[in-house]
Amino acid sequence: MLFPVIMAGGHGSRLWPLSRQHHPKQFLPLLTPHLSMLQATLTRLEGLTAQPPLLICNEQHRFLAAEQVRQLAGQQVQIMLEPVARNTAPALALAALYACEQVAASQREEVILLALPADHAISEVAAFQSAVTAALPLADAGHLVTFGIPPTSAETGYGYLRRGPAISGSKGFKVEQFVEKPDQQNANAYLAAGNYDWNSGIFMFKAQRYLAELARFQPQVLAACQTALAHSERDLDFIRVNNDAFAQSPDISVDYGVMEHTAHAAMVPLAAGWSDVGSWSALAQQLTRDTQGNTLRGDVLTEQVNNSLIMAEHRLVAALGVKDMVIIETKDAVLVAHKDHEQDVKQLVAQLHEAD
Ligand code: GDD
Ligand code: MG
Repeated sequence: MLFPVIMAGGHGSRLWPLSRQHHPKQFLPLLTPHLSMLQATLTRLEGLTAQPPLLICNEQHRFLAAEQVRQLAGQQVQIMLEPVARNTAPALALAALYACEQVAASQREEVILLALPADHAISEVAAFQSAVTAALPLADAGHLVTFGIPPTSAETGYGYLRRGPAISGSKGFKVEQFVEKPDQQNANAYLAAGNYDWNSGIFMFKAQRYLAELARFQPQVLAACQTALAHSERDLDFIRVNNDAFAQSPDISVDYGVMEHTAHAAMVPLAAGWSDVGSWSALAQQLTRDTQGNTLRGDVLTEQVNNSLIMAEHRLVAALGVKDMVIIETKDAVLVAHKDHEQDVKQLVAQLHEAD
């Protein structure tokens, strides 16, 4: 029984100022004019399973989430609200506990979660769905399956999977080591070694297996989430997780909290045009460029500009004689950055919040 879970509680701060605290990346139509990244994620699941997806996001985004689901007429989606952000290990704990609640006790062992970030681009839906199908028997056999991407650079913002032996009779491999966000030196070494893949951030595992791993490696996360769900408030629209209990959970991602420790990790290769659209350049790569290598959106005028991304939402933006720039104009904030520094946008945004 495949149970899709969409994780939509992130901040998307590397795409500031388009992505905002009250309207983060996953709710923006960054790649397709009429579909937000969340809506594209939901659409990508069509035909995979009869089970309605569970969408987990922050309480402050409940109307955005509900409205975007409503726009996809015919989509049945259950929305769960977290009162505070505690990262993905607790979010998936809630999902696993909830999914098990939905079935008879005798069927709990069969519940398999497919956990998907709400803010990724995947251009080849059929290839994505075949990778998911290939992962099912592995998850059923008790593996915590990740979907691996061949690395093309020594990114430090990803998890790395050391590929072990092929698992016979399947399209998967054992994962010998899972390293979340290595430092630059290790990322360089992993890229050079040739037997590492990036973790796409998409996971598939039995709900019961995940809960068992949590009990072992993150018992406080499990305990807090059990109480928070048991004391949740439910109405037709939302499941509201109990604040006092959930706030007790440690703040930790599934990668650091479980995947780095488990002995049951497996990997299925994902060749489906994946990108986590984790930076302005990554976004530009997904969009068309002109002959100067520029991606321009909105009212933009350029002269001798190369390899730049310029977006204007409210005003005319004119650029002259610059290259490798990111210029993002919105109603109340403008970002001007060199592409080499775009990973630091996150720190810039952190400073903004400190100033709040
Ligand atoms: N519900 C909920 N609650 N969702 C959350 C929360 C939370 O507290 N925090 C993050 N999310 C969602 C984000 O919206 C995103 O869709 C997904 O969970 C992953 O979180 P990120 O914060 O974007 O993780 P990351 O990009 O730093 O790292 C993960 O993805 C990489 C690939 O993009 C890891 O899994 C890495 O190992 C992986 O390489
Ligand atoms: Mg991410």
